[in-house]
Amino acid sequence: MTRITVCYFAESLERLEHFRQQEIESIAEIWRIEKGYGPKELCTFLESPADSTIALMKFHSAALLKFVASRAVLLHSVCEQIVIARSMNLMLRKLSKMQSVLENLGMGVGRRFKLHIHASGFSFTAEEKRRLYEVLGLALPHVGIVDLVTPETEFWVFFEGKRSEHDGPQLSIQRICFTKLLYNSARQSLLARYSLKTRPHIGTTSLPPELSFLLANIGLIRSSALVYDCFCGTGSTLVSAGHFGAICLGSDRDARTMRGRPSPKRKQTEKKYPKPRSIDLAFQGPKSIVGNMDYYDLQKRSVDFMRLSVESCKDLWRTSRGGLFDAIVTDPPYGIREGAKRVDRVKCSEMSLHRMNINTAGDQCPLSSIPFVQYSTAELESDLLNFAASSLRLHGRIVFWHPTAIGVADYFPTHPCLQLLYKSTHNINVRFSRDLLVFEKICEPSHAEKATDQTDKWVAFMMNFKRRELPSTDPMQKDSVRDVYFATPTWRSG
Ligand SMILES: C[S@@+](CC[C@H](N)C(=O)[O-])C[C@H]1O[C@@H](n2cnc3c(N)ncnc32)[C@H](O)[C@@H]1O
Repeated sequence: MTRITVCYFAESLERLEHFRQQEIESIAEIWRIEKGYGPKELCTFLESPADSTIALMKFHSAALLKFVASRAVLLHSVCEQIVIARSMNLMLRKLSKMQSVLENLGMGVGRRFKLHIHASGFSFTAEEKRRLYEVLGLALPHVGIVDLVTPETEFWVFFEGKRSEHDGPQLSIQRICFTKLLYNSARQSLLARYSLKTRPHIGTTSLPPELSFLLANIGLIRSSALVYDCFCGTGSTLVSAGHFGAICLGSDRDARTMRGRPSPKRKQTEKKYPKPRSIDLAFQGPKSIVGNMDYYDLQKRSVDFMRLSVESCKDLWRTSRGGLFDAIVTDPPYGIREGAKRVDRVKCSEMSLHRMNINTAGDQCPLSSIPFVQYSTAELESDLLNFAASSLRLHGRIVFWHPTAIGVADYFPTHPCLQLLYKSTHNINVRFSRDLLVFEKICEPSHAEKATDQTDKWVAFMMNFKRRELPSTDPMQKDSVRDVYFATPTWRSG
């Protein structure tokens, strides 16, 4: 095991605190699979309060720690713990006794270093920060050189505490951690490279990179894994899977979403969220899911994208025992805001009979579109789980968002061959939330094993949702994340 590591998590616009531990544990699991190596405890969370941006952890090895930092999107950086104390006086006393250790760690003669101060649970005033730098500076070895631009080593000091509102600006510090930076995470580069703002083709429900990379990590996406998204839309999840070296396959009921020919609804969205000027104008490829893969140089990672409704997936991907896909990572329609649809098989067979009659009579077959009917979320999820149970390889994962609503009793789908690993809530705004459900296939299904029918619970959920009273002041009425993410500078400053 490595020494105590301080994981410093990013403060996300999406409020994803509940997913931090899942992401790190899942990346450690990918490492175990890739190495074919498996002590049980690859990483241990010693302490990770939900309201703090730092967590103390122990990792099995330095190589695993580096691997976690190279993939985690919720992580800001990882540091090695040097001193931990409950007050500033104690911290300064401990530091003064560790001069030679600090010199060896990067503050020695002529060594360039930089010191960062981070507050979790409160914020320092500029004056407090200035004084802290002064006091800390006096306690550190005087032989090193402070270099803010090109430091050789960076040190982070994390303060945890709160300001009591009753006693004025009184600050109570609970813990101070003096650390040395080991690795910055991949977060910044992933978010910059895969930003929706520069992607050639996006839709109303494209997942921002922070969420799509989180799904890819939790879905155990790794090099050469075969990954399927049966609601692929514009391909956000597959872009992230492709980035990690997976082979990607996608399907969607709506060919226009994949192909990029705007529907009237999308035209409206494009009016509301006009493409920012920063879009890469040099890109000449198609504005479609294929264009997105080309744009990120992932053509070789994509197998195909098909027009296919999810309830037909099970018939198309008929697999022998042992399964086909390493992971299914997907973002189904939520059914609350936009209703899901499926192919109307009854109408379809009537239509084909009609066509056959016309053809036998020697007339031309009329061009008609495929008929669709409403598809409840309960039906959709049960089809999805049945498909996952038959098509996933043993121990493969299915990861998908399940729609929920804040303040309404929820239900969630289950299948006897799929074990629920994680269920965490992501609040979208004051009305809507969604749970990320992560299942692992634990056995092959026999004919009798099917997902539970949750239609009654879904109906009850929808009725409660409609009856529910909303708070009178509703500061998050906007589709907050999307509105903030796409806000023009004028909107943001206003
Ligand atoms: C939440 S969006 C997924 C967005 C996607 N992650 C992206 O990056 O664009 C849900 C998608 O499911 C598709 N869909 C709706 N009903 C479907 C069905 N029965 N079978 C397959 N896809 C369906 C919609 O066309 C839509 O593109």
